[in-house]
Amino acid sequence: MKLIHTIAELRAELGKFQRPSFAPTMGNLHDGHLALVRQARSLGDVTVASIFVNRLQFLPHEDFGTYPRTLKADCEKLQAVGCDVVFAPSEEELYPEPQGYKVHPPSELADILEGQFRPGFFTGVCTVVHKLFNIVQPSHAVFGAKDYQQQMIIRRMVAQMALPITIHTGATLRAQDGLALSSRNGYLSVSERAEAVQLSRTLKSMIAMLRAGEHNLAAIEQHAMHTLAQRGWKPDYMTVRRRLDLQAPQLDDLTHPDRLVVLGAAKLGNTRLIDNIEV
Ligand code: PAJ
Repeated sequence: MKLIHTIAELRAELGKFQRPSFAPTMGNLHDGHLALVRQARSLGDVTVASIFVNRLQFLPHEDFGTYPRTLKADCEKLQAVGCDVVFAPSEEELYPEPQGYKVHPPSELADILEGQFRPGFFTGVCTVVHKLFNIVQPSHAVFGAKDYQQQMIIRRMVAQMALPITIHTGATLRAQDGLALSSRNGYLSVSERAEAVQLSRTLKSMIAMLRAGEHNLAAIEQHAMHTLAQRGWKPDYMTVRRRLDLQAPQLDDLTHPDRLVVLGAAKLGNTRLIDNIEV
């Protein structure tokens, strides 16, 4: 496995291949990330993972400064799953001057849900992913369903910009109790970690209400918000949406559960967790 820090070196290395497959990450890798890399391995003739904590997608009060940077351990894990190339640029390498040119996703996709609570987040994500796509020039790229809105917005960007890349979505990997794996789970105290499973449990209870024929979405959402708030969480949203465009379902959608996804974001102590489950 090669560890590469510069764009020039990466281009020289990838010049030998026809169909790179790519899994972008911010590092501090867990089994969810590694599953994406394994999936990428089956798609191309060289497997590239990137590790870059992208300042553009953090708000000033968020955890950019404290986000765990664990390059050595990450490289060992990537090597063990058969990754061929790790691209880990410095900030100076990726953003040698302030990134004034940005990719702005459309408001109806990017200013809802995560974008409502993290303004500018998806502009930061799209800008770095577009730039990484230009650097790696992959034929295939893999994103996790854990960040449901992110993978949808990237798919739309690739389609609308006619980028010659096939986007794949990897299933969310969970701990035994059902908590979605996340680099941010490491911020949780022992008691918070035990409580954290309630996010996915509450999403499941929303699905149970839908399956039981409850069509009052406001009632389902309020019940979920209230359940978490009573347990000491600060929920940002717990909501039922259409998979297609993440808009509120129409009456007709409610009789087709395969069109629906439940999504949630909530703070437990100082840690903000997100999760989603397709109905
Ligand atoms: P990061 O949070 O490091 O996640 C990297 C990739 O791993 C994303 O596609 C994410 O959806 C996926 N992932 C995270 N947890 C997962 C889990 N439990 N199961 C399956 N996949 C999981 O997402 C980002 O980084 C950044 O926004 C990035 C796309 C790299 C742009 O900076």
